[in-house]
Amino acid sequence: MQITMRHHWLLVGACVFLLINTRYLYLSLHNSYAVRCTYYGEKTEMQSWTQPGVKTIKSLPAQKSDRRAPKSSDLSSLGPSSMANPTDWNTVETRRLELLSAVCKNDSLRNLTHTSINKFVLDRIFVCDKHKILFCQTPKVGNTQWKKVLIVLNGEFSTVEEIPENLVHDHEKNGLPRLSSLTEKEITKRLATYFKFFIVRDPFERLISAFKDKFVKNPRFEPWYKHDIAPAIIRKYRKSHRDNDNNKASTGLRFEDFIRYLGDEPGRRRMDRQFGEHVIHWVTYAELCAPCDITYSVVGHHETLERDAPYILKAAGIERLVSYPTIPPGITRYNRTKVERYFSGISKRDVRRLYGRYQGDFSLFGYPSPDFLLN
Ligand SMILES: *[C@@H]1O[C@H](CO)[C@@H](O)[C@H](O)[C@H]1NC(C)=O
Ligand SMILES: *[C@@H]1O[C@H](CO)[C@@H](O)[C@H](O)[C@H]1NC(C)=O
Ligand SMILES: *[C@@H]1O[C@H](CO)[C@@H](O)[C@H](O)[C@H]1NC(C)=O
Repeated sequence: MQITMRHHWLLVGACVFLLINTRYLYLSLHNSYAVRCTYYGEKTEMQSWTQPGVKTIKSLPAQKSDRRAPKSSDLSSLGPSSMANPTDWNTVETRRLELLSAVCKNDSLRNLTHTSINKFVLDRIFVCDKHKILFCQTPKVGNTQWKKVLIVLNGEFSTVEEIPENLVHDHEKNGLPRLSSLTEKEITKRLATYFKFFIVRDPFERLISAFKDKFVKNPRFEPWYKHDIAPAIIRKYRKSHRDNDNNKASTGLRFEDFIRYLGDEPGRRRMDRQFGEHVIHWVTYAELCAPCDITYSVVGHHETLERDAPYILKAAGIERLVSYPTIPPGITRYNRTKVERYFSGISKRDVRRLYGRYQGDFSLFGYPSPDFLLN
């Protein structure tokens, strides 16, 4: 009797513990999203980005400067580099999917391109049943805007501008369920028949953006990045602890610590389990959206969002119902100078290890390998 009682209380204790933790996780995620639904986390950009009243997309002229030179091979020049002179956008989009499918079949990249369609992936995918659309969310590419578009389509609000900023990521109330909330049968059916898309950007520029947004700026609303994740990474990956021991509080995460963590495959896997959902800001697109295991209809590129956004609306058959918010000029452009500057203090060995992890994303989406950093 006493033994069963003890078990009983242990169980109750475990449940309470789980509840508290789940609640904490929910609250922290909720808060992080509710307060700041920014695009890059940069104030000026955020303001222009969320300007109300502007609805239609202005086609911006292709920016020629600062684009990377196309590589010689046909397939690898399908990335942003080939977009400088786009004549037929259908062709561009079709070639992207052909490249994706070819790279998915490449066995030497298999462990960097394939992911099982697990709960983590299903949590990333949002469902619009009314128009049969699935959207896989990838941070730092304007996903908040897409979620607004889908919320409007689901019928809770009639225009993108009407949606309160704090509701966009509140999935209890915004009428935009995650695929993971459905039954296996419902999931399978939707994956097989719905229009499916997601957006990517240059993998290294994305990491810079995540680093700036989570570890340099905005510590107020998402304190766990600076208070929990950064110290854990520093403890394990900072090369020299001696030179800054005298002032621990002011020693924030450095880009080189972050890069070393990301490039250390076995080590970071162990850490990522503790970091939970927060890792969505830096795990590979392959891990987020399972692009080789789900047959996506369109993969948009952030660098060409001005062309991709209207294309996606049209391909999904919703271009008459909703429009994508105006994209501030210039903010989607790839900035090689910025990438060079961030990586200038990183050792070649660490860059190569990092590339080893993100090579799948570079290949799948046609981004040329960053030779200017590797050699
Ligand atoms: C597969 O990927 C590797 C690594 O990027 C590359 O060297 C190789 O040429 C690819 N194979 C095919 C058949 O495309
Ligand atoms: C993928 O497999 C290759 C060998 O085929 C190995 O060198 C590499 O470390 C693996 N990468 C990951 C992320 O497991
Ligand atoms: C590119 O990045 C550099 C360094 O961060 C910055 O000074 C420059 O203004 C950026 N260029 C553009 C076109 O945004």
